[in-house]
Amino acid sequence: MTRTVYVNGDYLPEDQAKVSIFDRGFLMADGVYEVTSVLGGKLIDFAGHAKRLQRSLDELEMRNPLDEAAWLEVHRQLVARNGIDEGLIYLQVTRGNPGDRDFAYPPADLPPTVVLFTQSKPGMADNPAAKSGWSVISVPDIRWGRRDIKTVQLLYPSMGKMMAKKAGVDDAWFTEDGFVTEGTSNNAYIVKGSRIITRALSSDILHGITRAAVLRFAREAQMEVEERNFSIDEAKAADEAFITSASAFVMPVVQVDGVDIGSGKPGKVATRLREIYLDEMRKAAV
Ligand code: PDD
Repeated sequence: MTRTVYVNGDYLPEDQAKVSIFDRGFLMADGVYEVTSVLGGKLIDFAGHAKRLQRSLDELEMRNPLDEAAWLEVHRQLVARNGIDEGLIYLQVTRGNPGDRDFAYPPADLPPTVVLFTQSKPGMADNPAAKSGWSVISVPDIRWGRRDIKTVQLLYPSMGKMMAKKAGVDDAWFTEDGFVTEGTSNNAYIVKGSRIITRALSSDILHGITRAAVLRFAREAQMEVEERNFSIDEAKAADEAFITSASAFVMPVVQVDGVDIGSGKPGKVATRLREIYLDEMRKAAV
């Protein structure tokens, strides 16, 4: 089925949507994005994603082309026009089309390029993988130093995913100076005893919107949260591990570099946090 997508103010069939070959997003990866999940036809944590979009744009001195209410309206239109019950909405904003290639930024009044599209994923919340858990490998983190900005520069995460695929596992955890930074497209956690351990926020990792909600729910449920670095060896010796993202929610991780974590099955903490997250976020969906 042909999707309806959004390009610079227009809703078009996907095969009629076009951007310039001189677009800065294409030539320089000069753009940012957001991914918002849809459950029951409603948007999960839209306000969180809108806030991070503003931050990413500010960090790159890019103008936000729409206000939050207008972004919400475009998201809702795409959900309705594509009949999305469960799935994802991708939003991309690039620095636009200056009409030629140049390293210097074009004048600030150049209109940005705005593209949104949907992915329908029926059954996303009931993903059977959450019952078996993911296996991951560790790979060196050789990304740039501003991973807190959600840019469309996704080549190394994509290479990491391919390394995982070639190794017959689900994902890769990036490591730097002996410590885990994050997954290819998710934040990483271990559980030891009653403590949930995850790297603190900095420019080393993306400030996950799911992470913020999950840590809030964990604290509300009187779970102990420790925001600090952890190593692959510590992960191997942990009781549980999991990842969070807008597309996977809370996903248990059961093996790292071929070593079972805990029982080698999804743990109680990850399973409980997934339930709480899905329940609470469905209630708050817009
Ligand atoms: N990825 N870290 C990285 C490197 C990510 O790409 C993502 C999200 C996250 C989790 O952030 P959030 O909880 O806000 O989704 C952490 C999205 C899902 C993607 O690129 O498809």
